[in-house]
Amino acid sequence: MSAPRGNRGASADPVRDGGPPAEPGGAPWGRAALIEAFGPPDVLEVREVPRPRPDAGEVLVRVRTAGVQPADAAIRGGWTPPGATIVFPQVLGNEFAGVVVETGPGVQEWAIGDEVVGFRVLGCYADHVAVSAAQVVRKPAAVPWPAAGALSASGQTAHTALERLRVIAGETLLVHGAAGGVGTMAVQLAVARGARVVGTASAANQDHVRSLGAAPVVYGPGQEDRIRAAAPQGVDAALDVAGHDGLLISVRLVADRDRVGTSVDRALQQRLGCRWISSDRSTARLAALLDLCARGTLAVTVRNLLPLERVAEAHRDVETGHGRGKVVLRVSEDSEGS
Ligand SMILES: NC(=O)c1ccc[n+]([C@@H]2O[C@H](COP(=O)([O-])OP(=O)(O)OC[C@H]3O[C@@H](n4cnc5c(N)ncnc54)[C@H](OP(=O)(O)O)[C@@H]3O)[C@@H](O)[C@H]2O)c1
Repeated sequence: MSAPRGNRGASADPVRDGGPPAEPGGAPWGRAALIEAFGPPDVLEVREVPRPRPDAGEVLVRVRTAGVQPADAAIRGGWTPPGATIVFPQVLGNEFAGVVVETGPGVQEWAIGDEVVGFRVLGCYADHVAVSAAQVVRKPAAVPWPAAGALSASGQTAHTALERLRVIAGETLLVHGAAGGVGTMAVQLAVARGARVVGTASAANQDHVRSLGAAPVVYGPGQEDRIRAAAPQGVDAALDVAGHDGLLISVRLVADRDRVGTSVDRALQQRLGCRWISSDRSTARLAALLDLCARGTLAVTVRNLLPLERVAEAHRDVETGHGRGKVVLRVSEDSEGS
């Protein structure tokens, strides 16, 4: 495996600052957003890197769009995802949508030109990503590129959460952080299951949360009373994707702590004895989400679509901890629908 990490290149010389193609007649270089050290958003830089080549069982995808999420910012700041190894220069990004441009040995199910959506632990903020053929699914034509590239991370977390919390029709789900990347997905998925949803958000995002199908509640002092007023029938399950007081309020409202989950505060989750929600990513889950998108049941809210070169700005936006839905990078110039 050659650098940059997470986006294997054909050369042992990992990164250079532009220049002619390394192979006559070929185009083995492409752009990627990477870090050479942990730090603030300014450590992100866009450079030319060797184009990865697909190994056996892999496809090479020309990336059109890639979502940005808090986990990417955390990695940039020094966090290492479980099971991953960060080696500089490190290309960030864990979700993408694009077009298959090459298939590795043994790949039968994908062909050049196929439009796909996929996930990978690292390496997606790049013109090209080599990824296992088992980590991509077909992109429905009805799903625009920005939405497709930003669906996997938040969508799969929300989908996993509803499964773990066993939310069914007729029940009431409380979502703390209903306007955010995961929250917007969780609200819509719960509504699609026939559940009632109460969602907390800032005053600015109340109408947006309502448009997703939830009863909106402004967070902050007095929110517990407002939630009780919005759910006089009681709350059956709760998902905290905001932090702050969300989990403490949830365990007072939900009788069964096994039906209270958080993706934010591990220490508090353990102390309270509720559920830790991490994303159980799979192509089956991603395909189910894409199907809902294609049928108009699930919408990806894209609040900020930026070219790859503005990746630092994208990270600053995500790190505010506020805002509707997702921040997305437009990676290749021929991105349709963006
Ligand atoms: N463990 C995992 O697998 C996993 C996966 C995905 C995400 N996560 C974590 O889950 C969290 C949410 O991720 P995300 O992508 O949804 O983040 P996000 O897009 O930044 O959304 C966070 C939302 O929280 C809301 N918020 C801020 N302060 C709040 C408060 N005091 N009370 C209630 N809501 C508040 C904001 O709403 P306003 O804009 O209205 O202020 C914002 O929309 C992050 O901590 C992330 O690291 C974990």
